[in-house]
Amino acid sequence: MAGDAVLSQFKQAEEVAVVSGEGKKLKVGIIGTGWIAESHIDSYKRMPDVEIVAAADLIPGKAEKFCKRFGVEGVRCYPDHKSMLENEELDAVSVCTYNTQHAVCTIDALDKGVNVLLEKPMCVTTEEAVEICRAEKRSGKVLSIGFQPRFDENMKMVKKVVESGELGEIYYIQTGGGRRRGIPGSTFIEKSTGGIGALGDIGCYSLDMVLNAIGYPKPLTVSGYVSDFFGKSTKYSSASDAARFSVDDFAAAFVRLEGGIILDFRISWAMHCDTPGDTIILGKEGGLRIPSTDCWNGSIGGPLVIYHDVAGKQVETVIPVQQNRGPGLFDQKIRSFLDAIKNGTPSPVPSSQIIYNQAIIDGINLSAKAGKEVEIEIPEI
Ligand SMILES: NC(=O)c1ccc[n+]([C@@H]2O[C@H](COP(=O)([O-])OP(=O)(O)OC[C@H]3O[C@@H](n4cnc5c(N)ncnc54)[C@H](O)[C@@H]3O)[C@@H](O)[C@H]2O)c1
Repeated sequence: MAGDAVLSQFKQAEEVAVVSGEGKKLKVGIIGTGWIAESHIDSYKRMPDVEIVAAADLIPGKAEKFCKRFGVEGVRCYPDHKSMLENEELDAVSVCTYNTQHAVCTIDALDKGVNVLLEKPMCVTTEEAVEICRAEKRSGKVLSIGFQPRFDENMKMVKKVVESGELGEIYYIQTGGGRRRGIPGSTFIEKSTGGIGALGDIGCYSLDMVLNAIGYPKPLTVSGYVSDFFGKSTKYSSASDAARFSVDDFAAAFVRLEGGIILDFRISWAMHCDTPGDTIILGKEGGLRIPSTDCWNGSIGGPLVIYHDVAGKQVETVIPVQQNRGPGLFDQKIRSFLDAIKNGTPSPVPSSQIIYNQAIIDGINLSAKAGKEVEIEIPEI
């Protein structure tokens, strides 16, 4: 499937969630009105218990145009997240900025007592992730990280297979994926805005798929590699993009996780190959293959296959691709966040898990820079 087609599936929502619009509506603000904010506003508009009251963007006039385009009336627009938070009484915000602004916007919102739905990746560095978790703790508010593939039936099946015990004790995972050519443009390719490249754009999805399935064990050490040959080359990128390219377009790592589990990872925005491989999860009783796609962003490329022995014979069990029915993945991501706020239930995609995802990504960069394996240290929250 072409990259855009896969990405667009996150922008579809097939049904309106069944929620009462009676009673007090949640006042929502959107921080950053770029590409992904479109999916947020679309979903919020479908939620009868939400009133979109504010939007902010650093680019003059952008938030105003955005609100007009999406036909939301009476929304107050601000030139940055700080002025929005100072002037509004909000219940929740979506942080839809580029990665390097994730931490500051999230921390500022939580410190104002506002619940936060933060787009993925959580942020750029482990230090930022720690500060985000500390702000969440002192605020007592809900923070959910925007991993909508969590709601995909195939991703749920991967977790169910592992949790069923069919694979036995897990000891080795190979994951990752990516594209032969598929470097995004815009704010994704500069250090000052994206902060991290393929790692933060699509690498975090691969990590979440497998780490969520096995219960997010703590990462202990990382030996990482990053490169930028395609992004920086005028042979493969436009001269202007190549000149400003300052993040990774390919990364690989060998990660040791708590419980003696090995994670072998690679991710690509561009390379001379179709795929860096399927995801495989090896357990003592069985193995699971999750076929890769040509645009890795949290979907699967074909049926799952379990390899196991039955009555002394080596057999394969094929699990067909599951169709997603009901509300779209994005609506489920938004709804689960709103429900956690309203019902006082735990965050649907908690920072206590995603901090490990972020620590691996940061560990890969730190190890690549140091040219050797590094230990992952996460201070007390
Ligand atoms: N969940 C998904 O499927 C998905 C898909 C694409 C992108 N994303 C994530 O969404 C985020 C944004 O991506 P995008 O493509 O929309 O980027 P973008 O560059 O199009 O939009 C980001 C906007 O945020 C604004 N901004 C930055 N700092 C701000 C601040 N402090 N206050 C107000 N506005 C601020 C910028 O001016 C810009 O307009 C990224 O972190 C990306 O990884 C998620």
